[in-house]
Amino acid sequence: MKKECLSIVESKCRACRACGLAKTRHNVVFADGNPETAEIVFIGEAPGETEDLEGRPFVGRAGDLLNEFLEQAGISREDDLYIINTVKCRPPENRIPTDEEKTACEKFLNAQIDIMNPKAIVFCGATALKSFWPDPKVQISKIRGNWFDVTINGKEYKAMAIFHPSYLLRNHSMQEGSPRRLMQQDLKEIRNLILTDRVADYAAV
Ligand code: URA
Repeated sequence: MKKECLSIVESKCRACRACGLAKTRHNVVFADGNPETAEIVFIGEAPGETEDLEGRPFVGRAGDLLNEFLEQAGISREDDLYIINTVKCRPPENRIPTDEEKTACEKFLNAQIDIMNPKAIVFCGATALKSFWPDPKVQISKIRGNWFDVTINGKEYKAMAIFHPSYLLRNHSMQEGSPRRLMQQDLKEIRNLILTDRVADYAAV
């Protein structure tokens, strides 16, 4: 059922020319993951070059690193996550999407979240977080790793912000308190949420 609803939104999104990014895109990057099994909506910033060419989110260098962290945490990219971005078309030179571009794409993003009705939303990086956080000066390093509630289209969701893997590509340290160590910690927390709910389902049998 979710698949059918999402495919209606996807076909509208593929035809969208509401902002200037439509002129330079090779592909609309709509989503990745299995909407019928995913309990977490994972929101990144915008497609990069590889994503634009392949039409899937997080398949370039940042995506490869994300995959490593997910695997290590025991999170299945294919089954546990529905991965999307704040904007569906690549901003030239990988610049941060403008407010106009984000606004033009908002209806698709909100529809994806609404249809998915996830147990939790993960904001990956500052751009995704700032699309929903009231204070534009929010610092991801202060917020990350903590669950909070976010209201989208009148519905409340549990949410967490985590570092963007591009940031981790520039920060290699694995020392206690380093961004990579914090990423491991945050993904474990997310994995625990997925597992806790599953265990609770079986405990109720
Ligand atoms: N960075 C993002 O935020 N999203 C992608 O899809 C790829 C890189």
